[in-house]
Amino acid sequence: MNEADSEEMLLHLFGFGYQKTEVLSEADLVLINTCTIRDHAEHRALSYLGRLAKWKAEKQGRKIIFAGCAAERLGKKVQKRFPQADIVCGAKSLDKFPEILERSSLFKPVNTTENPKENTKKITGQVSIMRGCSCKCAYCIVPYVRGEASSIPPEIVLENCRNKAQNYPEIMLLGQTVNAYNYKGFTFSKLLAEVCKIPEVKRVRFLSPHPVFIKEDFYKVVQDNPKIARHLHLPLQSGSTKVLKDMKRLYTAEEYLQIIKNLKRLDFLISTDIIVGYPTETEEDFKRTLNLVKKCGFSFAYCFKFSPRAGTPAAEIPEISQEIVENRLNILLNEIRECSAVAYKSRIGKTEEILFETKNSGRTSGNLWYRTTTPKAIGSIEQILIKDSNGKILR
Ligand code: 5AD
Ligand code: SF4
Repeated sequence: MNEADSEEMLLHLFGFGYQKTEVLSEADLVLINTCTIRDHAEHRALSYLGRLAKWKAEKQGRKIIFAGCAAERLGKKVQKRFPQADIVCGAKSLDKFPEILERSSLFKPVNTTENPKENTKKITGQVSIMRGCSCKCAYCIVPYVRGEASSIPPEIVLENCRNKAQNYPEIMLLGQTVNAYNYKGFTFSKLLAEVCKIPEVKRVRFLSPHPVFIKEDFYKVVQDNPKIARHLHLPLQSGSTKVLKDMKRLYTAEEYLQIIKNLKRLDFLISTDIIVGYPTETEEDFKRTLNLVKKCGFSFAYCFKFSPRAGTPAAEIPEISQEIVENRLNILLNEIRECSAVAYKSRIGKTEEILFETKNSGRTSGNLWYRTTTPKAIGSIEQILIKDSNGKILR
């Protein structure tokens, strides 16, 4: 989401004569687009901002923009603590970014008819389809810093997809609860079907779906559209129905497992997000998570230690000991590594559709990595028989 937002902000900065560089010493401006989902993420963004004071002082005219979710949460406090930040633009003000630039005396618009050429790898084009989140998961700060969910009109989304498809074979639809998309009755499934109709689009992915918004029409649109990747990143958070209820996740462990079974019947691989050490998580609850992880057979998982976010209901509950959390995290990470190796090895002997991201490597529809010694064109799609896997890559 932040990558896509940064790209959008970059387009506006082009209008002020800026070009993109990855080299700090060459830069006249640094845009820091921040995350605040966990304390650690926010801390990293702030310490980077702190370190940039030196960079800014080294050459006159250098500027810093501090944007995104941490900027939204901290507001004016940022500039007070870090006067080197010229502009602080919170996540909710993203649509006002061009005006913010115009109003600031620090920037002068230039006449450009052409945008500077992007030199990023051209495989996946990201397209935001909705912003914000109307779920109220008890641990999560996103609804506070990004606001209520709102869907972008389908005409705009499809126009953006058509444009991206000129350069990128794969389209990634983005939203905080991407499958909650609904614009005046125009549903997520309908949107998926329309994106698949764009001839240049070879593969469609989306991030991140929420289990409660998966309905029958989704399975149907998947079956009708082979361009939809057979991979879902479906956050689980906990395998204990009790903890899920405390978290206000709106599904039970059994309901989650049923969705996985339905998806596996359609040859999907599933990855997930899991939080360990939620304040109400007992040893028994954690075992339920481990158990469910085994049953689901995830191909991958991001596992996070619970991080209390001020203002959320979960931050009010006393935390459990860090030692216990650390221990649970390590056990879970081991389990996930095993699951991932099983997922890779389960593809041996199957023919996979590989989209090449380099001459020698690419990803399957199920989002597994593949490598070959026979070079292929970057961006091409090939049907390839998988002969072997070491549990981390297909060959
Ligand atoms: N603590 C730890 N992990 C969190 N996530 C969201 N909020 C928190 C929190 N307070 C995780 C969830 C979510 C992912 C993007 O970040 O697993 O799916
Ligand atoms: Fe946060 Fe996702 Fe829950 Fe929304 S659905 S509150 S973004 S964890």
